[in-house]
Amino acid sequence: MSVHAEVRRISVPQLTSYKGSKKIAALTAYTAPIARLLDHHLDMILVGDSTAMVGYGMPDTLSITTEMLTAHARAVVSATRQVCVVVDMPFGSYQESPQRAFRNAAAMMAGSGAQAVKIEGPAALAPTTRFMVERGIPVLAHVGLMPQYMNVMGGFKAQGFSDEVAERILQDALAHQEAGAFAVVLEGITEALGRRITETLSVPTIGIGASPACDGQILVTEDILGLSGGRIPKFAKQFADIGTLISNAVQQYANDVRSGDFPTPEHCFGVKK
Ligand code: KIV
Repeated sequence: MSVHAEVRRISVPQLTSYKGSKKIAALTAYTAPIARLLDHHLDMILVGDSTAMVGYGMPDTLSITTEMLTAHARAVVSATRQVCVVVDMPFGSYQESPQRAFRNAAAMMAGSGAQAVKIEGPAALAPTTRFMVERGIPVLAHVGLMPQYMNVMGGFKAQGFSDEVAERILQDALAHQEAGAFAVVLEGITEALGRRITETLSVPTIGIGASPACDGQILVTEDILGLSGGRIPKFAKQFADIGTLISNAVQQYANDVRSGDFPTPEHCFGVKK
């Protein structure tokens, strides 16, 4: 038995219990150094399939694999102690059947130590949520603007402007909740719809471009840190300019290497002070 005093991670049921009492603060992370910095400040880290675009420079999220996301999630889990870690299921890994979804989700959780998976999808995917939850896999559902459906939706477009689409998205969220989802990510929907879904659901909503009324918020970490190459979505806010700090530090390093100011004897082995 371990003699270390362990800090317990925030659990999935704890996150659900925050509804109405505490806002969920969440961000994405794909690597150990970033995850380590986020750990003590957040309730949840999502190892998002956005790493396809943010980390690999792919044009969309469709080409990331379960193996890639499992490896990123393993790094994030090993660098954190406190936060609840959720891993995204990639495009094609869960839509075909609940059984296939379960097998892939179980392998991703076993291979990474993540506590839950996220799936994008309308109400038609609710049976998949139910199948996984009933077999021990906590599911975070994602409705509204679903980047994995970009080819069906015709791009990354905000949703819910018409009554018909707004009603459908509400029903999507309700279907996943009834199937056992522990929370629902609402992405890129109108303020009014974000508010309405949040007021209707008994599980927390986690918004990204979905109104301050949501029970929590999530953003892509690179967007808030100024690491997205100057272009951030309308719904994001840049809280720091780490990109400029990195660029200045690298320029200083290159200058010192070229001028011979680095390395100095203190950086050498076998040189007496
Ligand atoms: O992949 C992702 O980063 C997401 C968002 C909800 C942040 O799905």
